[in-house]
Amino acid sequence: MTTTSFTTAARASACALGALSLAFSAACTAPSSQAVDTGVPGGRPSSAVRAPGDPAIPERQTARFPDGWRLPAGTRATFAPEVMAVSNSPEASAAAAEIMRAGGNAVDAAVALGFALAVSWPEAGNIGGGGYTVVRMADGRTAAIDYREVAPLAATRNMYLDENGKLTDKSIYGHLASGVPGAVAGLNALLERYGTMPLSRVMQPAIKLARDGFVVDTALAGSIERASKMLLRFQAQSPFTPGGKPLAAGARLVQPDLARTLEAIAAQGPSAFYSGWIADSLTGEMQRGGGIITKADLAKYAPVWRAPIRTTYRGYGLLSMPPSSSGGVTTAEALNILEQYPTVPSYGSTQWFHLVGSAYQRAFIDRNAKLGDPAFVQVPLAQLTSKTYAARLKATIADTRATPTRDLEPRMEAAAREPMNTTHYSVVDARGNAVATTTTLNNSWGSGVWVRGAGFMLNDEMDDFAAQPGKPNMFGLVQGEQNAIQPGKRMLSAMSPTIVLDPVDQVLLVVGAAGGPTIITGTSQVILNVIDHRMSLGDAMRAPRVHHQALPDSLTFEAGGVRPAVLDSLRGYGHAMRELRSLVNVNAIMRVKGGWEGQPEPRRSGGAVGY
Ligand code: DON
Repeated sequence: MTTTSFTTAARASACALGALSLAFSAACTAPSSQAVDTGVPGGRPSSAVRAPGDPAIPERQTARFPDGWRLPAGTRATFAPEVMAVSNSPEASAAAAEIMRAGGNAVDAAVALGFALAVSWPEAGNIGGGGYTVVRMADGRTAAIDYREVAPLAATRNMYLDENGKLTDKSIYGHLASGVPGAVAGLNALLERYGTMPLSRVMQPAIKLARDGFVVDTALAGSIERASKMLLRFQAQSPFTPGGKPLAAGARLVQPDLARTLEAIAAQGPSAFYSGWIADSLTGEMQRGGGIITKADLAKYAPVWRAPIRTTYRGYGLLSMPPSSSGGVTTAEALNILEQYPTVPSYGSTQWFHLVGSAYQRAFIDRNAKLGDPAFVQVPLAQLTSKTYAARLKATIADTRATPTRDLEPRMEAAAREPMNTTHYSVVDARGNAVATTTTLNNSWGSGVWVRGAGFMLNDEMDDFAAQPGKPNMFGLVQGEQNAIQPGKRMLSAMSPTIVLDPVDQVLLVVGAAGGPTIITGTSQVILNVIDHRMSLGDAMRAPRVHHQALPDSLTFEAGGVRPAVLDSLRGYGHAMRELRSLVNVNAIMRVKGGWEGQPEPRRSGGAVGY
């Protein structure tokens, strides 16, 4: 039997409206665990998952959220005794479970899931973008692989400025916005090193989804609708807008071009993408629309294996993504600052918001100024992740007073725009192998360019560079020279695929998120909720979230997520409080007694599938 929990699209859409009625809350968050027989034979006994009574899994405590918070405490995540896969797409999570049923390990399953997401969650799942994976194998081996896009060879520092030196929107929309895609090379390298199955096998679920199609749910239909103007502007022939109209919920999305592309990659490996007819289609698309990615760019692309950032938090171990992502370093720095406090303020209190926000603020100041692609710039990793440095930063936090970012880092100005979309998936198997992957096209639907003939979306990752150092990007991030554009360089990311190990070195959490800079704060708050506040995974994911990225100099919170008296006190401390309807899209797995719990983002759509 397969345990399947879908945060259904209908429910997700209702969540997105942010209504507060009781019936609606229940619809938003009901665990809806159903037993579904997928008909796939096989399955293995669990060996890595400890027996009930495991002392390494402390009892969870019931969380208390503010009155009126729309996601109720006490809702259980989906349980499965052996394996679990969680992503923003139920179809893609099911692909992972299918591969594990057939004897594959978590890496085989994650790669299957990654390709399936490119079909079933095309706003962010991709082969035309890039991402990062952190792996922890049951035998203790750990690794991180960086398949971030790189700037094309013809890219220049000022390519997004107009003749008056003003920033244009060409780093966000259209053919010039794309970095050289890394996803196909990265997933293949991951599979070759840690998987057990051939690429041609693990890609089968994705190929089937593309060829036979699947029914569009309300989440995907809404996403297509919101992007349809952009999609039609750059490519009227995509299957997402047949006859110029966005595909509606209930329609079947069939992607024959994408199926052909995936079949070619499955048969020939990544060379089909980087030098064969798919490369021709991509460069043809570039020529048609004034883009600059060439066959030389594609031929030169290579993923990079890196040592994960390893840090500890109150006796737990963290493995996360090093640069070219800022995720691991910034998380480590913020958590190290918080660890300096011997006791943790209670969740949701004024002091909790103040300390957590102030720690993020300081970590982001360093992130925005000091991090970049280590192949191009010096990155002070050892300093930024050290506990003594964190102690110095902690000393700058006043107990009851916010520090303006300009007093800590006076050089930058800011503006903010809303984050769009990326996607994270977590997979664990019965042996205890764990995979955390975050992948993106940057914006939802990337640059808006769909590659004619090859059937996939291209990223707009170039906007993650400081297109004009000192000026905000799409996420309001104000970044410096370290992240200026250079040919062949990776743009700095916030993606934070993270694996948390318990004090006896077993996988406890596999977690990560979408949401631009809020990826770092959202991912780390789930970790804090589990470690500091002993929340269950269901509560840790439903708890109201908070965000600070130094600039804009504000503490961002979720509507209804802060008690009125706490809000007043935080304003009294001098925090500029900024309300958003919802923050971050996290997908996580946690080890529990007798197995795993999987929780897709309760604020959005997704699926947890296990057995
Ligand atoms: O790599 C990054 O940090 C961004 N490209 C991520 C973008 C993102 O998460 C968009 N949103 N949900």
